[in-house]
Amino acid sequence: MPQQKFWKLVLPALLLLAGAVQAAESSPELLAKVAKANAECLACHSAAGLKAPPRAGLDLAKLGKLLVDDAHFDASNHTGMECTQCHGKNVSAYPHPADTRESIAPCEQCHAAKVMRVEKQIAGSVHGGEMQEPFTCLTCHNPHRGAIASRLKDARTAAAQDNKICLDCHQSGREMARVSGDAKARPDVDETHAWLPNTRLHWKAVRCLECHTASDKKPHEIVDKDKAERKCATCHSADSVLQTRLYRHQAVAEQERLGFLNSAVLSSAYVVGATRHPLLDKALIGMALLTVLGILGHGTLRILMALWRRKQKTAGKGNGHD
Ligand code: HEC
Ligand code: HEC
Ligand code: HEC
Ligand code: HEC
Ligand code: HEC
Ligand code: HEC
Ligand code: HEC
Repeated sequence: MPQQKFWKLVLPALLLLAGAVQAAESSPELLAKVAKANAECLACHSAAGLKAPPRAGLDLAKLGKLLVDDAHFDASNHTGMECTQCHGKNVSAYPHPADTRESIAPCEQCHAAKVMRVEKQIAGSVHGGEMQEPFTCLTCHNPHRGAIASRLKDARTAAAQDNKICLDCHQSGREMARVSGDAKARPDVDETHAWLPNTRLHWKAVRCLECHTASDKKPHEIVDKDKAERKCATCHSADSVLQTRLYRHQAVAEQERLGFLNSAVLSSAYVVGATRHPLLDKALIGMALLTVLGILGHGTLRILMALWRRKQKTAGKGNGHD
């Protein structure tokens, strides 16, 4: 029957959609249900679980390397999801089945379009070349922690999180050797960026991506040193690109209140036109007004003096004639 075939095709799609919508919205009942389900795994796979395992005879040395931080998971891209959505229902049983690791759902099972788009970006980036261990989503993304910038709101948190991904590898000979086969594949980034004053401060305040990608829309298309941004004024100026990149998720009012518009980015005196600190602005306007007043005052005084002198002169001349 064609109708039956229709539902066979459409029903799974609807269920999948419902699942995605469920994960996206977060009604209290749903969150409670997810928390309860995940607590079963976390009873073992957490620091607390390791300290007080729910059963005897577990391989605690092994378990100690397999912990998931509940708080990080709750703040991650995948908050609101059940562990078993990726790990499968079978893992609920313990001892786990032998294929527990192999049966983890791959990213493309839920993000087919994104994976295709991102894989293209990576292939066209500095990381797309021959590697001992080719880059996958898991090279940089931990499914249990980390959230994209739009979910973080705070620019410093985004910088810390995203830069950690790059620095954990680019500052580690061991990691470099693992992926490229050569521990010295790349020199230390602190040294190669010595031209950038306060290098470490920059790592905390601005993302590698801001200088090494052409657009915020393509965070995976990392460009090499020849195409990287090196002009200070790209960020340290009144029309800083950071306003459309790192800080774009912050409301303008918020930018003004604490972060961006008052920050060292724009008040750095060494960049022309960069003074945007409100107090400095006021001081500058005040000084400009004083200067104008000064000139006006000075001019008026000179005119008055000239008039007075001329009056004295004509008065003197008149006296002489009379
Ligand atoms: C009773 C304790 C316990 C519970 C409950 C538990 N696990 Fe485990 N899990 C372990 C231990 C111990 C290991 C280490 C390997 C082993 O002994 O199987 C492990 C290993 C794993 C691994 C790694 C497998 C591998 O081969 O590297 C994954 C993934 C995993 N568990 C996921 C889960 C998920 C998801 C849940 C909840 C549905 C869960 N576990 C519930 C104790 C538990
Ligand atoms: C979005 C999918 C997803 C969700 C949701 C998820 N995991 Fe995982 N998990 C993975 C992937 C992928 C890996 C393999 C990571 C790797 O190999 O680097 C993994 C690995 C693991 C491991 C092995 C640890 C390790 O470092 O290799 C454990 C244990 C685990 N998950 C437990 C959990 C628990 C507990 C939850 C729920 C609180 C959970 N996972 C939720 C995708 C997920
Ligand atoms: C079982 C389904 C599932 C799997 C498998 C899965 N995710 Fe997700 N992921 C989701 C859901 C649901 C969301 C939240 C809704 C959304 O933003 O698309 C999400 C969100 C994300 C986001 C935020 C994206 C955005 O634009 O908002 C990233 C990044 C992400 N996942 C990466 C990964 C990576 C990397 C893997 C593989 C390790 C993975 N996911 C595996 C279901 C999944
Ligand atoms: C070289 C490290 C790296 C690799 C490899 C990587 N990502 Fe990312 N990804 C990042 C960083 C950094 C961001 C920026 C996060 C942000 O917006 O703050 C990001 C952002 C994202 C986003 C949100 C922005 C967007 O373009 O939609 C998605 C979705 C995503 N990654 C998925 C993936 C998938 C899928 C893979 C595997 C095909 C992957 N990533 C591989 C580092 C990486
Ligand atoms: C797991 C390790 C690893 C991670 C994570 C990683 N990289 Fe790399 N990166 C490499 C390796 C290895 C190379 C050398 C590639 C080659 O020589 O073909 C490289 C090359 C580069 C280059 C090219 C240097 C040149 O020759 O001009 C830049 C730029 C770069 N990475 C930036 C980043 C940024 C930004 C991030 C974070 C989003 C990042 N990398 C994350 C390992 C890593
Ligand atoms: C202010 C802009 C800026 C920021 C931020 C930045 N870079 Fe760079 N990066 C550059 C420029 C410009 C070069 C080229 C320097 C040169 O040729 O001397 C470069 C060079 C590199 C190289 C190649 C070095 C070499 O000689 O092999 C790597 C790798 C790299 N950057 C990675 C990173 C990583 C990782 C981060 C974040 C921790 C980062 N960059 C942050 C601008 C930046
Ligand atoms: C990609 C954007 C970007 C680029 C390019 C950039 N900076 Fe910065 N810079 C920042 C940010 C963000 C801060 C942190 C400001 C803060 O603390 O709020 C900063 C801080 C600084 C500071 C410290 C200011 C202070 O008062 O503590 C100095 C000095 C500085 N930058 C100089 C430079 C110079 C010189 C260049 C060019 C060689 C440059 N920067 C390029 C974004 C950038």
